[in-house]
Formats: sequence, structure tokens, C-alpha cells
Amino acid sequence: MPDFGQAVRHFWTLDWNATHLNHGSYGATPKPVLAAQDAVRQDMERTIGDFFTRQLPKRLRATAAELGEYLGAAGEDVVFVDNATAGVQSVIGSIALEPGDEILINDQTYNAVKNIVRHEAARAGAKVVEVTFPFPVEDDGTSIVGALKSGLNERTRLVVLDHITSATAVVMPIERLIAACRAAGALVLVDGAHAPGQVPLDLSALDADFYTGNCHKWLSAPKGAAFLWSKREHQPRLHPPVVSHGLGKGYVAEFDWTGTRDPSPYLSVPAALAFRQTFGDSRIKARNRALAEEAGTYLADAWKTRLGAPAALAGSMRMIRLPLASGGPPDIRLKLWQNHRIDVPVNALDNALWVRVSAQLYNEMDDYRRLAIAVRRL
Ligand SMILES: Cc1ncc(COP(=O)(O)O)c(C=O)c1O
Repeated sequence: MPDFGQAVRHFWTLDWNATHLNHGSYGATPKPVLAAQDAVRQDMERTIGDFFTRQLPKRLRATAAELGEYLGAAGEDVVFVDNATAGVQSVIGSIALEPGDEILINDQTYNAVKNIVRHEAARAGAKVVEVTFPFPVEDDGTSIVGALKSGLNERTRLVVLDHITSATAVVMPIERLIAACRAAGALVLVDGAHAPGQVPLDLSALDADFYTGNCHKWLSAPKGAAFLWSKREHQPRLHPPVVSHGLGKGYVAEFDWTGTRDPSPYLSVPAALAFRQTFGDSRIKARNRALAEEAGTYLADAWKTRLGAPAALAGSMRMIRLPLASGGPPDIRLKLWQNHRIDVPVNALDNALWVRVSAQLYNEMDDYRRLAIAVRRL
């Protein structure tokens, strides 16, 4: 794959004296997208009143339509939020939970999302039920579907599902999980923080009730660009985390204005989509997935350990067990950074230590070879 890796690094402002294997956590915005964001800000500051009063509402809707097309959704069902955390807060804070209702999460639910669920459930007197998902995953996801079903019952009001988990980098068998929730009569919120740009998305076909996703991770948009999609029937009851002038004026009006803020991350999403098109969106996903697979297999071989999930449940991130018996994840991560300038997250799971490697266009096999050696030196 000669046209990626080193050959495209000039598109990013990343420090190339370091090895970046953690695209999954915060993304990394390419220079052409940052330039587009800068242009939006200049427009805003040049025509300030006209920008906020007349241009912004139209530009937000045009951007939502373009993003919607990418996501397989109608633009009017897509609203912008600052991040997936805000998308989750909007949904869970808007559902009128009642005492006795249950919200189903799992041990791999993102911690910030668990906190939102616990906080909102406590306010309503609702109950949080947490099931344990298998990890490492040994099958095609059937064991995960089984684990979810064990937590569903007639009191389950809402199920929060990750599309791709953060701590274990598993691409969930999302259609099967949603079908199980539907069969139990529960609402489904999909936390797709990692999904846009990493795996194909067709929100109209997915049949979730709510879907939130980040544009600032894998889609290459600037930080602070995320979306919320909702089925029409739920939209009248949904509110943004910050309620403003739009209250009671409908879904789009409520989310499109949440107070004066810099909307440039949202308005730069088209530039991010255009940047991806210079390589081909499907080609990016396929290349990153193939590189993550090659890297994961190589590291597991080099360390004589194993991968966290089969290839069928993987995207552009891979979990590999570390050949280390001791050491806390923050310590190991710090040593990799301080001694080797390698940025990679480390996690303790299943009584073992694991790394999560990401594969983005700027990565190449040499990055993972450096990690292999650095870990041996620990
Ligand atoms: C599964 C999942 N949900 C939510 C988030 C939160 O994303 P953000 O910090 O952009 O809100 C993350 C971040 O990594 C995540 O992995």
C-alpha cells in the first residue's frame, strides 16, 4: 500500500518524531480540514450578525443534509452535538424514565456513558442493569447477543449499545443486538462514537431508535463535531443538553441553537467528507481495517499472545494482549511515551494487560514494529 503511511503524513500536523497508534481516542484532523475550519471562523468574524442570524441556520441544515446522505439518513433527522457524550446525554436526559424502569448497559459501555445512565436513572428512581459481555470474544458474536438477552425483560425501557466498544475495540453484531431489543419491546440508543468513518453506516436500515456518532474521531472532522439521529416519532420529546430559544419549536430548532458558540467544527464536516473522497471513503475503511488486521496479527505473533476478537468483529482498531505479567496500564502507557515516544492506550481486562492499536491512513507496519520492540524492552 505505497500511497499511504509515510506518503500521506504531510496532510497532518502530528509530530512525526512520535509514533501515533491512538487515532481512536481523539482522532487527528488533516490540514485541509483545519484550513476549512479556519475559513468558517473568518466568515463568522467578518459578517458576525449576518452569519449568526441568517447564514448559520441554512448552513447547518445544508451540512446536516450532506452528513445525512453519508450516514444513510434524511438531513432533517440529523442534528449536531459537540460529541457523542452530549448525544447520549440528550437522549437519556429526554426519556421520561419512571420508577421501576430499567436501563440496560454492559460492562464494556463507555464509562462516561455509564455515568450518564446512573445519574439519570437515580433522578428518576429507575434501575440500571449491567450485563457482562464476553472478552476476549471467541465466536461470531452469538455469545454477546446471548449475554444481552440475559439482561432484557419487560421492564427494560432503554438499552444502550456501543457500535464499536472503546475499551475492547469490538465491532458489535449491532443488527442482531438491536433485533433482540426490539423483540423485548425496549428502546435502543446506539453509541456510535467510533463508527462513522470506520465501518459502513446506513442509519435508515439499522432500526435503532437513536444513534449518536462522532465526526471528530474517524471521519477527520475537527474536535467538537458529532451528530444525533433519531426516529421521527421520538423527535418531539428530545432536547439538547443545553435548552435554549428553540424549546418547544421542534427537534431541529432545539438542537440548531443552544446558545452562542463556535459552529466551525460542524460546518467543517463537508470538508472532512471531501478530504476522505480524495482517497475514496470505502478505500480508507478497507485499507485501515486491513492494516489493523496485519498489525494485530503481527503483534500477537511477535509477543506470542492473542487478539481480543475475530476479524469478523474488528474494524480499524485491534486489541492485542501484552506479554507482561505486571504493571499498571497508566505506568506502561507512560513508559511507552516517555522512553519510546509511542502513544497507545493500555487496558487491564480479563486479568491481563492489553493494548489497543489504531490504524489510520498515516500509519504503516513500521509503527507497529516499533511498538513490538518497545514492549519487549519493558
Ligand atoms: C464508545 C464511546 N462512547 C463515547 C465516547 C465519548 O466520545 P466523546 O469524548 O467524543 O464524547 C467514546 C470516546 O472514546 C467512546 O469510545
